[in-house]
Amino acid sequence: MAEKIIILDFGSQYTQLIARRVRELNVYCEIHPFSKVPELDQTVKGLILSGSPCSVRQDDNPDVDLDSIIGKVPLLGICYGAQLIAHKTGGEILPSEIREYGRAKLATVDMHNELMKEVNIGSQVWMSHGDTILETPEELEVIAKTDSANAAFRHRTQPVWGLQFHPEVTHSEQGKIVLRNFVVHICGCNQDWTPDVFVESTVDQLKAQLGDDQVVLGLSGGVDSSVAAMLIHQAIGKNLHCIFVDNGLLRKNEFQNVLKSYQGMGLNVKGVDASSEFYEALKGLTDPEAKRKAIGRVFIEVFDKEAHAIQNVKWLGQGTIYPDVIESVSVNGPSVTIKSHHNVGGLPEKMKMKVVEPLNTLFKDEVRRVGKTLGIDDAILGRHPFPGPGLGIRILGDITAEKVQILQEVDHIFINGLKQSGLYDDVWQAGAMLLPIQSVGVMGDERTYERVVALRAVTSVDGMTADWCHLPYEFLAQVSNDIINRVKGVNRVVYDISSKPPATIEWE
Ligand code: XMP
Repeated sequence: MAEKIIILDFGSQYTQLIARRVRELNVYCEIHPFSKVPELDQTVKGLILSGSPCSVRQDDNPDVDLDSIIGKVPLLGICYGAQLIAHKTGGEILPSEIREYGRAKLATVDMHNELMKEVNIGSQVWMSHGDTILETPEELEVIAKTDSANAAFRHRTQPVWGLQFHPEVTHSEQGKIVLRNFVVHICGCNQDWTPDVFVESTVDQLKAQLGDDQVVLGLSGGVDSSVAAMLIHQAIGKNLHCIFVDNGLLRKNEFQNVLKSYQGMGLNVKGVDASSEFYEALKGLTDPEAKRKAIGRVFIEVFDKEAHAIQNVKWLGQGTIYPDVIESVSVNGPSVTIKSHHNVGGLPEKMKMKVVEPLNTLFKDEVRRVGKTLGIDDAILGRHPFPGPGLGIRILGDITAEKVQILQEVDHIFINGLKQSGLYDDVWQAGAMLLPIQSVGVMGDERTYERVVALRAVTSVDGMTADWCHLPYEFLAQVSNDIINRVKGVNRVVYDISSKPPATIEWE
């Protein structure tokens, strides 16, 4: 990687957003925990200190040795990061009289300062802080204010800046300009980190890393594994062996359709129908976690068997993406935890292979852009997320082939309806749940006592929080009609109007 910005994370909910904004400027950046400052070699063009839920006034506040940074590379503190700089240079940090949270307007701006170039007086900024920098020390000069707080400062002799507001959130109207000023004008980054360049350099790296070795990779039909496969395929061609397992819990016709598009992409892919093994292992299981475990276990067994049927495989390819590997900072102490990748938990350990993860520096939207550069079908790139255990966690209670077939039909009508109405891309994730209850209905002159399905559609950014989609009533009415008329065994459709939290996206 030619050049990068380092972001030191003090536990703010916005840290990943800072990274995404920097990358939108076509500049590569990495997030590191505050307790592990990486070496500031020639490739590091600048450093950003994130916000934090902590206060610099509290004992054991998250801290970093600024002397080892200042003067080596330009430094920008955001919110807590700015308070830390001010505090350490002798400034006075006090609790805000009013906890400032939300929108404020810049009342004064020093537009001659490099950081604030092209930023206007009256521009809205987003504040989220309980502390305020009341007094700045002699070394620091205030370069922007709101009516009630110091909004930005610079160091008089060192390349150091601080922002009390959050430039990374969209509510800060000119936040992107401020970040561009720092990254491009102050740090001098070239803005040449594009999907094309990523593909070219990653394929070169993969060629060097893998040589003539054989690699095996499990495809899921999702964006990440598909893009990872295409990158590795570009590097080593037929030496990449892809395995696509039908667990019997996929969407209607998904296995055949996706297998066909993988073959069309030139991938060396083997489809394995293991439905009966999965159904067998799931027989009688009703507890969601027990079902997940059984599905995970059988997947590993099937995959392992298929992988070992290929001669001399040394590597396991995986579509792990950046949010899965960022070390998240625990604000209640210096301890650091690493999120596990719940799709493939346990696979690398079991396989005893080296792991190759070409997407582990990318965010989801970047994976999509790289996929586009690689010429992957929009139908794969724009696909909603789908859980690894598939319909297995959308059939509440025990699973049978008959229930799977009913839910596949219901889901198909719902998802197709979203596509045909042009609503699919406005929804982050959608699906149907088969409930373990029956309800009374009437069809013609007959009383019925049949199954109930719930439809769920949510908007979200990353699945961590979600809101239910306000789908048009006419659309819901049509889908409900279609389901009840066409799917035998279902006589009632309900729509889930719960947000996450407190509900989750999946029902199990
Ligand atoms: P929840 O239900 O936790 O879901 O709000 C958040 C996101 O994660 C997906 N999900 C899973 N994905 N294995 C997966 O690969 C799982 O066991 C699993 N459980 C939930 C869910 O579909 C949503 O996108």
